[in-house]
Amino acid sequence: MKEETTKDIATTVMERCDLLGNISEESDALTRPFGSQAMREVNKIVSGWMRDAGMTVRQDAIRNLIGRYEGDGEETLVLGSHLDTVRDAGKYDGILGVMIALSCVQRLHDRSERLPFSIEVVGFADEEGLRFGTTFLGSSVYAGSFDRERLKLQDHSGTNLWDAVRDFGGEPDALEKSVQGRGDLIGYCEVHIEQGPVLEEYDLPVGVVTGIQGQSRIRTHFSGKAGHAGTVPMANRKDALCAAAEFVLEVETACKVQPGAVATVGEISVQPGAVNVIPGEAELSLDLRHRDDAVRESLRDHFEHRAAEIARSRGCEYRWQVRQETPAVPSDPDLTALLGRAVEGAGLPVIRVPSGAGHDAAQMASLAPVAMLFVRCEEGISHNPAESVTKEDVGVAAETMARFIQLMAEK
Ligand code: HGY
Ligand code: MN
Ligand code: MN
Repeated sequence: MKEETTKDIATTVMERCDLLGNISEESDALTRPFGSQAMREVNKIVSGWMRDAGMTVRQDAIRNLIGRYEGDGEETLVLGSHLDTVRDAGKYDGILGVMIALSCVQRLHDRSERLPFSIEVVGFADEEGLRFGTTFLGSSVYAGSFDRERLKLQDHSGTNLWDAVRDFGGEPDALEKSVQGRGDLIGYCEVHIEQGPVLEEYDLPVGVVTGIQGQSRIRTHFSGKAGHAGTVPMANRKDALCAAAEFVLEVETACKVQPGAVATVGEISVQPGAVNVIPGEAELSLDLRHRDDAVRESLRDHFEHRAAEIARSRGCEYRWQVRQETPAVPSDPDLTALLGRAVEGAGLPVIRVPSGAGHDAAQMASLAPVAMLFVRCEEGISHNPAESVTKEDVGVAAETMARFIQLMAEK
């Protein structure tokens, strides 16, 4: 078997990202939510690539795709990332990490090389939480930290997670039992685009991740009184959308003056949603993050308090649902140091980058030491079809991961 060059490997990774980038629930955008037909198709294609790399393939109770390359020892190194996307996504967020992990195993298989440990490459079934508003559904099942309360969550069509898992061929009642809480895991390492500006500022292709900031995912709802746009005087209105709007701007103002805080209202819906009807209902999402959990929790409580006050001042009711909380997670220092040595092996300086974005590594940290390698992406753009990486940087990342695996084998 001809030994693939770094360029060949990077070309294959990019071509595969391109191919998977066309598998979507929408004809004119990349949108691949949990349990969709597009996810079925991607799992089928990636399963084939895993088998080509000498791996056995299985799907767990939530349909995470798991390829296993047997080694000589009892231990297992886990690599991977997620295969789902946000709405109108770029084609590298998540997918690049799975493809690079796959390229490392392909290289071992091509050389018929066996390591003193097995490797599992995981394509997680849902990290973005596009459909149910929570994040890490796939990796929380794999890591044994799934909260069965989430099975009652409904998507916008009213389908609950229990039914969605079953319809997707999973086993909703086995999600907590598919715990991978085995003693054999020696680590989890995830390659992911940086989704930020730091690597570009340093003009470096890769960097190691110091940790992942914590996040709260909240849904809040204002209920006022629908009415006639032409006849209800302004002073008599209970306009749910105006209450929501006041809340959104308060969130923005508070986070602008709180160093390190970021908050986003990405979804808002209004009922009944007619030009000449005063909105009676307004529902919005809130994504709140900070590297310090105490600061995030204090902001969260402050915002709930303000939602109540704003509602009261406008004669509205409010509901507040914390759908998920994920604490800040530091990367494992030893595994990250080894990853740093792999970066140095490419003759590159090692820069350490905090992650503003959430990653499956945050869930996997409850199971094994975690490390992450960031890959430069143009202008840090992500969650946007303009997301892009260069083949050269992908080549460096693939080489670095291959070197990391060898260093693990030498340990
Ligand atoms: O939202 C995030 O940080 C990640 O992209 N799921
Ligand atoms: Mn993402
Ligand atoms: Mn991601």
